[in-house]
Amino acid sequence: MIPLRRILIWISGASAGLGAALAATVPFEGAELVDISRRGGTPGVHHVAVDLADPDSWPVVEKDFRQRIEAEDPELVVFIHNAGTLTPLGPADRVDTVQYTRNVLLNSAAAQILGHAFLSAVSGLSCEQHLIMISSGAAHRPHEGESSYCAGKAAIDQWVRTVGLEQRHRSPGCRVISVSPGSLDTDMQAELRAADPDQVPVSNRFRRLEARGQLDKPETAARGIWSLLDRDLDSGTVLHLRDLT
Ligand SMILES: NC(=O)c1ccc[n+]([C@@H]2O[C@H](COP(=O)([O-])OP(=O)(O)OC[C@H]3O[C@@H](n4cnc5c(N)ncnc54)[C@H](OP(=O)(O)O)[C@@H]3O)[C@@H](O)[C@H]2O)c1
Repeated sequence: MIPLRRILIWISGASAGLGAALAATVPFEGAELVDISRRGGTPGVHHVAVDLADPDSWPVVEKDFRQRIEAEDPELVVFIHNAGTLTPLGPADRVDTVQYTRNVLLNSAAAQILGHAFLSAVSGLSCEQHLIMISSGAAHRPHEGESSYCAGKAAIDQWVRTVGLEQRHRSPGCRVISVSPGSLDTDMQAELRAADPDQVPVSNRFRRLEARGQLDKPETAARGIWSLLDRDLDSGTVLHLRDLT
């Protein structure tokens, strides 16, 4: 455990899966931890109850960033944007329009708007600042039946490369990283395995991985993600957890 400091950490989607595992493995004693999600319920964590697929929620999150920073005068601030969705799985010309719109708003738009909100809230602070975006191998490989998910993750990677360059001109800059966590045993994976392989062919691969016990535990990935804070990585780095040595 690292000694007590004034630490503020926001994790979007800490109510389940990787986000809950990140909340359970925070490597700092006494940090103020905030879950940005619909369900909440993670023990010991403040909850900002929002639907991030609704643009009206984004200013609510920005206000929370600013208010807690002002109240806490932190020495370290971290935002891990982890919330994401595969829904709706299926070809872009057949899926439900309302669900598809929500997918684009959450996976593409919310990531950039909340990233922007965090950067502007920490701009001018002298403390250590980290923004970590959770990406996916789907950013690089097209998966049929996951078009808005793949596009959203690709957008996150390019956003991180770009603002990472910008932050290198600031002192101290916010260190902005995109990380793909690998294939994890979570509800999102279960949704993928339940998909029709004719519409989502990659679901076969994940059924095989699960049958062989080859899905990673979210806690293992979470510890790898926390280790990024101490690694010598440039702002704007896009990486996969398996690349870490
Ligand atoms: N699982 C994998 O194999 C895998 C692989 C590569 C990348 N990833 C990425 O890792 C991240 C976490 O995935 P996971 O597998 O842990 O997913 P998960 O088990 O489905 O959990 C998703 C989390 O996102 C939140 N979320 C979803 N829609 C939301 C909304 N509209 N508003 C607010 N929060 C919302 C959920 O909270 P509420 O439902 O409470 O709102 C939940 O806490 C995602 O970005 C995913 O793309 C996962």
